[in-house]
Amino acid sequence: MSIVTGKELLSHAEAGHYAVAAFNTNDMEYTQAILEAATELHSPVIIEAAKSEIDYMDGHVFVAMVRAMAERLPIPVAIHLDHGPSYEEAVRCLNYGFTSVMYDGSSLPLRENIEMTKKVVAAAHACGIGVEGEIGVIGQAADGPEGGVNDMTGLADPKECEIFVKESGVDSFAAAIGNMHGIYKRKPELRFDLLEDIRRRTRVPLVLHGGTGIPEEDLRKAIKMGVCKINFSTVMRKGCLETLAKTLADNPGDWDLMKLLTPAKRKMVEIAKQHITMVMSDGKAWQAKGASH
Ligand code: 13P
Repeated sequence: MSIVTGKELLSHAEAGHYAVAAFNTNDMEYTQAILEAATELHSPVIIEAAKSEIDYMDGHVFVAMVRAMAERLPIPVAIHLDHGPSYEEAVRCLNYGFTSVMYDGSSLPLRENIEMTKKVVAAAHACGIGVEGEIGVIGQAADGPEGGVNDMTGLADPKECEIFVKESGVDSFAAAIGNMHGIYKRKPELRFDLLEDIRRRTRVPLVLHGGTGIPEEDLRKAIKMGVCKINFSTVMRKGCLETLAKTLADNPGDWDLMKLLTPAKRKMVEIAKQHITMVMSDGKAWQAKGASH
């Protein structure tokens, strides 16, 4: 059994000075591609899904699928709720058997974000599961499962991060430091000065969202400064759909779905491998005992 808690993955990454890649998924092929890439590189990995992706797959089916795929693999795998929008959604995912949950109260005033996150932390900790929180507004450069287009990025205030972590009891958190979801319209300029101040004030593992398009040297610098989990989504969907579009154009009148989807899946394996290597988790898998949850 190689399903572990997200908390276990992150503390291993923190101690080993690397980050775990968290890939969003919304179907079987996508999930198989992520697990195949991680297995080939002997890397721990996080399979994550936002509410829209969970609703699309059905949470019970999703967890059963990941568990069935992962339990024979020699790598540790966590199942994570990405951008949980409410306490109810977090509890639903704990019941499905997720081994990590995020509660995203970043659009709320700090005090309300703390109070809501605290409630999610109480429920998750009672199940032995860790919680990721969020401070600042991580915008959305292009439409995707995390929500509509939102060009506004509100940078995290390090003092607020300190209060948030201390009072909410979160196990990890994502801070907005100039990162955005989707395809960046210009080269992302991460505020490493903020990251440094945040790290100095908080001691829980940090999470970087909007991994698509952030240059490798910036990812590595962020990891050196305490980032232990990096989320990737758009880059996988883009690679999949571009490959599928080409395959369809090259094979008019061919209705063999498996044949047409296979090149797209191969492309996702390749992209996932690139990103696992970028975050330096290749070769870092250990023999996991498995989460009891
Ligand atoms: P990208 O789609 O920009 O890779 O971001 C993914 C993400 O942060 C999911 O929470």
